[in-house]
Amino acid sequence: MKLQRKETNGDLMDIIIRKMDLSDIPYVYQEELKIFGKSLGEKTLYNEIMYNDMSRYFIALVDGKRAGYIGSWFTLPNAEILNVFVSDKYRGLGIGQQLMQIVIEICNEQNIEQLTLEVRRSNEYAMKLYNQLRFKEVAIRKKYYEDGEDAVLMALELGVIK
Ligand SMILES: CC(C)(COP(=O)(O)OP(=O)(O)OC[C@H]1O[C@@H](n2cnc3c(N)ncnc32)[C@H](O)[C@@H]1OP(=O)(O)O)[C@@H](O)C(=O)NCCC(=O)NCCS
Repeated sequence: MKLQRKETNGDLMDIIIRKMDLSDIPYVYQEELKIFGKSLGEKTLYNEIMYNDMSRYFIALVDGKRAGYIGSWFTLPNAEILNVFVSDKYRGLGIGQQLMQIVIEICNEQNIEQLTLEVRRSNEYAMKLYNQLRFKEVAIRKKYYEDGEDAVLMALELGVIK
């Protein structure tokens, strides 16, 4: 669990990032539907939390309210971000970056070689975030999304010395 106190427009906010638990499923499900128009589904989220040893899911809380989520899979020696979002009223506050950093920290602890994700090229803010974190474009997945848009496959090389 990570706590950060941040000042925005003169207000102090407590930002906590903690492991996702079963009580977070309705929040993640509703927000995924709202933001992406689809969700992994409540049952899949339940199974991921309860039974998948490879998965690492986190929730960001701002002053105790759920504000964002990240889901990742550690398929050693690599890892993958499955999804990340910040609820719209909390965007642009650095929460997306903190959620990503948590996963990157685990990658470093576990000597992960490469962390990957897929993103729509039109997703300006997400592309900006990943570029800031030094992800590089490695491939294009043609017509990856249901509406026909391509996905950009991005990777962060973690510089593991073998
Ligand atoms: C992409 C997303 C997770 C970023 O989360 P966030 O908490 O807003 O991101 P951060 O605050 O860490 O900002 C990262 C950069 O993007 C900019 N940014 C993000 N959202 C912004 C907004 N709404 N308006 C202006 N700038 C924004 C930030 O200013 C920051 O750049 P800076 O450091 O130069 O200021 C969030 O916009 C989101 O949930 N989008 C919808 C879901 C989505 O697209 N997920 C990614 C799927 S691949």
